Amino acid sequence: MVVTAHPLASQVGEAVLRRGGNAVDAAVAVQFALAVVYPDAGNIGGGGFLVLRQRDGTAAALDYREKAPAAAHRDMYLDPNKEVVEDLSRKGHLAAGVPGTVDGMVQAHQQYGSLPWPELVQPAIDLARRGFPLTQKEARKLNRERKDFLRYNTRQPTFFLKDHWREGDTVRLADLARTLERIRDKGRAGFYEGPTADLLAAEMKRGGGLITKADLAAYRSVWRTPLTGTVGPYKVISMPPPSSGGIALLQLLTIAQHYPLPEWGWNSVPAAHLMIEAERRVYADRARHLGDPDFYQVPVAGLLDTAYIRRRMHGYSPTRATDSDDVYPGVPAPPESPHTTHYSIVDAQGNAVSVTTTLNSNFGSKVFVGGAGFLLNNEMDDFSVKPGYPNAFGLVGEEANAIAPGKRMLSSMTPTILEKDGKLFMVVGSMGGSTIITTVYQIIQNVTRFGFTMQGAISAGRFHHQWLPDWVLCEWGALGPGTGLALWLRGHKIAPKYGGIGRAAGILVLPDGRLEGGADPRGDDTAAGF
Ligand code: GLY
Repeated sequence: MVVTAHPLASQVGEAVLRRGGNAVDAAVAVQFALAVVYPDAGNIGGGGFLVLRQRDGTAAALDYREKAPAAAHRDMYLDPNKEVVEDLSRKGHLAAGVPGTVDGMVQAHQQYGSLPWPELVQPAIDLARRGFPLTQKEARKLNRERKDFLRYNTRQPTFFLKDHWREGDTVRLADLARTLERIRDKGRAGFYEGPTADLLAAEMKRGGGLITKADLAAYRSVWRTPLTGTVGPYKVISMPPPSSGGIALLQLLTIAQHYPLPEWGWNSVPAAHLMIEAERRVYADRARHLGDPDFYQVPVAGLLDTAYIRRRMHGYSPTRATDSDDVYPGVPAPPESPHTTHYSIVDAQGNAVSVTTTLNSNFGSKVFVGGAGFLLNNEMDDFSVKPGYPNAFGLVGEEANAIAPGKRMLSSMTPTILEKDGKLFMVVGSMGGSTIITTVYQIIQNVTRFGFTMQGAISAGRFHHQWLPDWVLCEWGALGPGTGLALWLRGHKIAPKYGGIGRAAGILVLPDGRLEGGADPRGDDTAAGF
């Protein structure tokens, strides 16, 4: 089974599995297909994390997160008065980190793939060259981005510029098809060297960006030890730093384990209050302690120590909200719509892959590499550009996540796999910037503690708190009117989140061994299997 954010990408993955490819083969094909049909987040100009569990229970985690270019420096987004220059880390050439996706896919395939590499890149080339129909949601997004595409590009991306895109319009991406052909034929060298690297470096020069051919040649993804922890009868396998996702998820699940949530009821007043209070504390830890472990000593064991986690709930009142502003004042600008995408795959042998990949915001930096047809990320905004200054998701950070050359920016991406009784149980993850962690947390809780199906757990309404800003973002209908009012009376500031929180893709192994896919109704997400 394959669950992705786009029906055509799910079809590509399913076809690979039908041909006998394994879950990693399908993941590689899906990653490249998403770069064509889902350009807002699917990518070759961004990065991501892949967590896998083989049928024998061995697990691995691949970090293909972007890196700061060698010429990056701590104050690169500040003016001479040390004030943050608005949007500089979010849009345009300076916002881009060195892309990791292509190296990540090559690494994953070399270690675990079974089908020939060209066969896995070819479906994306076919989609780009022959064209594909826009969904209604994608047409709407392209119309919204038109102004930024015109403003931030040195060569106009005519393939995405039209007065008004409509559902069913065909998009053809010839430059991207040629770039993908180079990747098909030369693997890593098709992107990090030769014509693609030349085009990217030239684009940076024209637009005042920092990425050089030396940065591209030096980029390497990294196999990291997956983060694992036991919560009740479940073993959680997730992403370690530079993602904050695995640590925060384990902290949240561990806290929840000490309270009778099922007895209180799904999204009831005491359950929602407890979850919000836990999130407030966990995101405060994230801001202080988490960053790239290659540059900063992240106290992973300390953060996951059960006694420490319990102590973090010190001061928790079951009837009163804690005020985050007592710790860090200030309310940041409202977040731009976050964009990342997650896909979950289980093959016929029972190997599982959980991948979250991103350009950061919708369509990343909005910059296409002229002549190469792909978008560059704006991942540099995931660094703390100045201590305490919120990024696009309202997240703040400190020294641990300060900019340094070659460093990876902290992420919230939380690709996760759960085991129960030593067997594969669930594959899950989400898009949604800072809300990824709480989305994955709620979905896991919905299944493991409230008995939801995979689809029900993903469709259910969600809420989110991240310490700062001190408000509870809440989807329409996630909390009943009585619950919302009761939480407000306890001191929680509740704000509606239009457009939804997160967009998840999950697969649950049912007791009889069949797979249940959960595709998020908030998007075009589709489960495909056989
Ligand atoms: N760019 C979103 C994240 O990595 O958290």
